[in-house]
Amino acid sequence: MSTIDEVKARIDIVDLVSEAGVKLRHAGKNYTGFCPFHDNKHTPAFVIWPETGTWRCFGACNEGGDIFKFVMKREGLDFKEALQKLAARAGVQVDSYQRETPEQKEAYDNLRKLLEDAVIFYRGHLLNSREILSYLREKRGLSDATIETFGLGYAPPGYETALKHFTAKGYSEQELIDSGLLTVREGESTHVDTYTGTRVYDRFRNRIMIPIRDEQGRMAGFGARIVDPNDIPKFLNSPETPIFSKGRLLYGLDRARKPIRTADQAVIVEGYLDVIALHQAGYENVVSPMGTALTEDQMRLLKKFTRRIVLALDPDVAGQKAVLRGLDAARSAMDKEGELGFDARGLLRNESRLQADLRVASMPDDLDPDEIVARNKEEWKTLIEDAKPIVTHVMETLAAGQNINDPKVKNQIAAQVLPLIADLPNALERDTYRQALARMLKVDERALMESPAQGQRVRRPRLERRDPPPSEAPVAGLAVVAGSLIHKSEAHCLGVLFRRPELLYRLDRRLQEGGLASLSTEDFEYTDHQMLLTLIRQSLEQVESDQHQYVVIHLTDSLKTLAQELLAEAEKLKPLEERLLEDLERTVQKIRRTRASQDLTQTRFLLEEAQQSQDPIVSFYQRRALQLAQLLNSLDQAKRHSTLRRQT
Ligand code: CTP
Ligand code: MN
Repeated sequence: MSTIDEVKARIDIVDLVSEAGVKLRHAGKNYTGFCPFHDNKHTPAFVIWPETGTWRCFGACNEGGDIFKFVMKREGLDFKEALQKLAARAGVQVDSYQRETPEQKEAYDNLRKLLEDAVIFYRGHLLNSREILSYLREKRGLSDATIETFGLGYAPPGYETALKHFTAKGYSEQELIDSGLLTVREGESTHVDTYTGTRVYDRFRNRIMIPIRDEQGRMAGFGARIVDPNDIPKFLNSPETPIFSKGRLLYGLDRARKPIRTADQAVIVEGYLDVIALHQAGYENVVSPMGTALTEDQMRLLKKFTRRIVLALDPDVAGQKAVLRGLDAARSAMDKEGELGFDARGLLRNESRLQADLRVASMPDDLDPDEIVARNKEEWKTLIEDAKPIVTHVMETLAAGQNINDPKVKNQIAAQVLPLIADLPNALERDTYRQALARMLKVDERALMESPAQGQRVRRPRLERRDPPPSEAPVAGLAVVAGSLIHKSEAHCLGVLFRRPELLYRLDRRLQEGGLASLSTEDFEYTDHQMLLTLIRQSLEQVESDQHQYVVIHLTDSLKTLAQELLAEAEKLKPLEERLLEDLERTVQKIRRTRASQDLTQTRFLLEEAQQSQDPIVSFYQRRALQLAQLLNSLDQAKRHSTLRRQT
């Protein structure tokens, strides 16, 4: 049995949920309660099926899953963390996810401990420094609570304040150097200053100290802002150390991760102080890189919590470029291709590769984000809501202040935007953006078509789609949860698709021909199944390796045994493609039918209750019941459709 299934088998979902503070009561075989994820306290729309170990909210959330999903959502964790947490509770040993060796971990923990001490040290100096405190309070509008929450501090001007303080506390010079608190005097490492006996001195002097933590909240380093406007550089960060890697951390993520998951959106700004000001204003889904371009590592880190990412760019062009520059290490290409073109292209390429929804919000009136919330909190919300897809942003930026009616201008803009559009992996998307460009430039769309538009017009551009839940490490489980028909069907379906990922496209087509939606993560109840499906989809969107191999390579340790089980099951099936497809189609229909009728029963039950208590939510449940009935109806039709096809 895999770790995941063992954990599932040992933890009672009813216990787990009620311990999380949800009052449950019996309703037949199930339990109901008020949904902990949205706040309707009238109708108990939250249902648990102990038999399958799953839950669902029939109210506003309309979402459900297993114990892992519950903990992920409740505590803002990613799958690995939820697994670790629940495994600990179940007393199950988790395959080692630790990338650090035990020796490294000890060394890093010592560094982290020293840095925690440093936070206290710098905070003490801040509290004693009226001038700096009043700068933070009055000039920057930070409350004492915010200063405390973000652990802000002040490094005094002397060269040896930290050095003396920490050596007196028993830390060695080497530890202080390793942590980045001290700097080694350059060129003198062999000539130790015999007079003072030191060759090292405080790295941070006369600066506002901003502790930087990793996404788990562990200390990693400091960002330090000048107090004296004449000092340079304006910001001095900790040097790169094993625990402080600027390309791999995002400032504020320890506090932002849960809000990001809740909002299903992350906003990236450019400055530490912007992150702090926005959090104070109640916008907590905000993080920033640390003076460097965004890296792919940082995007992957964020993607654990959401796929919807908004880049809030500083108003100046340089600022826009700084963020747009990100994501592609191949800087040399930049000069050749022209900055904006290359930058946006890099972003776009990554957007499709990472399957993220990247948007850009521009700051108005030459203001930084912290100045915007200072003048009007609501304005920030509007700005983020108005964020544009990258291609649209580029089009608008290029057109701003230009005379669009000038044919030369039209040509220039088209020449810069068309290559970006041509890069998009999806034909329908290319089509949409070309139409938008044509509209903006007021030219005939055909003038912009490099090839005739294929098929019908776009129904909805990809960027407007809400993507399935974020995934990273995929994990799958074979049926162990007692008697769950759906679980078995899900596993069966995945086993086949794991063996033959390319069948997924054909399955989608068949489903669509029958008037049904393509296979999506919503068809799967179990977090690990959802993750495996996402991985299988990803394998179809890359060309580097064989699709099945791609999935195999990207499996995590804990998944591997399970994946083998799935594969072994799938291997027993006849390899006839048509048969496999028929079987897949039938299984998906079955999963949907089972779930829809289960949901309909539950909805009717809730409807009745709501009617009795005269809750206005009645109409909501009526609509839901109607939708479910319609879904069941189209499932019947689809079934007839596929039976007919088999007979012809
Ligand atoms: N930065 C840096 N090194 C510098 C300048 C900037 O690392 N020499 C990074 C910091 O992470 C900083 C961000 O770039 O937060 C944005 O810089 P800037 O806009 O100059 O600073 P703000 O954070 O907006 O600070 P302030 O509002 O105090 O000017
Ligand atoms: Mn600023």
